[in-house]
Amino acid sequence: MARVSDTYVCQSCGAVYSKWVGRCDACGEWNSIALETSESGPPGSLSTRTGKGKAIEFTTLKGGGEFEPRFLTGNAEFDRACGGGLVPGSALLIGGDPGVGKSTLLLQVAAGLALGGQSVAYISGEEATAQIRLRAQRLGLSDAPVHLASGTALRDILATLKTERPDVVIIDSIQTLWSDALPAAPGTVTQVRACAQELIRFAKSSGAVMFLVGHVTKDGQIAGPRVVEHMVDTVLYFESEQGRDFRLLRAVKNRFGAAYEIGVFEMTGAGLREVSNPSELFLSEGREPVSGAAVFAGIEGTRPVLIEIQALVSASSLAAPRRSVVGWDAARLSMLLAVLDARCGLDFSRHDVFLNVAGGMRIYEPAADLAAAAALCSSLFDIPLPSDWVVFGEVALSGAVRPVNQTDTRIKEAAKLGFSGALAPAGADASGIMLEPAAVLADLVAWTKKTGALG
Ligand code: TYD
Ligand code: MG
Repeated sequence: MARVSDTYVCQSCGAVYSKWVGRCDACGEWNSIALETSESGPPGSLSTRTGKGKAIEFTTLKGGGEFEPRFLTGNAEFDRACGGGLVPGSALLIGGDPGVGKSTLLLQVAAGLALGGQSVAYISGEEATAQIRLRAQRLGLSDAPVHLASGTALRDILATLKTERPDVVIIDSIQTLWSDALPAAPGTVTQVRACAQELIRFAKSSGAVMFLVGHVTKDGQIAGPRVVEHMVDTVLYFESEQGRDFRLLRAVKNRFGAAYEIGVFEMTGAGLREVSNPSELFLSEGREPVSGAAVFAGIEGTRPVLIEIQALVSASSLAAPRRSVVGWDAARLSMLLAVLDARCGLDFSRHDVFLNVAGGMRIYEPAADLAAAAALCSSLFDIPLPSDWVVFGEVALSGAVRPVNQTDTRIKEAAKLGFSGALAPAGADASGIMLEPAAVLADLVAWTKKTGALG
């Protein structure tokens, strides 16, 4: 027989405890444990409750044709982040800070899909329909045939979806939904997990695309619904850098496409504008040659993006000089400084070092090592690098410059945007652009001094 039991559940990672604790052992979070009441059977009852179970059917890897083709939203940046369109029957989680523009983005996508002939249901648990209409009006999308509703009761929503059978469903947000089958409060892990599970099951069985919006906590985790990340097919984060108008839609997980693919948008008075050439955002304007700036030819997802890396190396009177990094890994900077010291004899120990990635971008690629090193050398020697050259390559502890992936793509992008040269790992071949091979870090130092002598 089912009975009601009290459990304590970590709202951050979903770990379950029998009594309250101040700190979750599983994820280390403080004050994240909340009481949740749940219905459970006696231990080991699962199989007895459901009987013997029937045999499932095995099939082969070959075959196909059962999959419907992806369909496009008409928003190229959004489609790109989703891995090239939407897969019928898939579930996507879109996380982001409050106010970043999730509802705006999804309303635009919904309108685009509806105008393209798909039936789209937009269900908001956060805003009244009047508010959403107002936003649609502001975006000039009032005429799009989107089915709009506001509601939070899972049972009602599912019943409606089962009769309406939309192609695309947008739930804004998953944290506002609640199922009356559970005694836990809305927004708790138990509720969020159960609601997401039901909605995803609906998506799989009906072939609808299910978008779930989730709010993110300060430290960048989707509050509560981190458990949902494992259940959905695709997890997208909508990010912004403080004080900036551009937004990145970043795929951190995608069962149907490349992870770490990005879509770039700009928030304007009339909604989100697609930025199809993101390099323009991450290169500083005017681009007069100044010391300490290097252009990195990077790859974001499958797309090449040119990003400026800026360094400032200045004499320090501190016993432990400052090391400050924005947009890059601090440990990587320490490593690079050590390698520059050990292999090239460049001493930064009496200098404060600041490194900044322009445009509020964050770089994760090891290929940025050489560009960061170039910016550091340029600032240390006070020699401006040529502003129409790009730099990329991974630096090993030995001081060797390692080849990186997609060299051709990087060089082609640089050539396309009017750059005339590339300092790249030895072995790269270039067309339409000058190439300076760097086999070891010392080659970079020599190149920096040479360009200074030329200038
Ligand atoms: P919203 O989509 O409500 O954010 P979220 O759903 O992620 O919480 O976006 C709200 C912000 O976007 C708000 O600060 C106003 C701004 N905004 C614009 O700048 N231009 C617009 O056209 C719209 C609709 C919103
Ligand atoms: Mg919203």
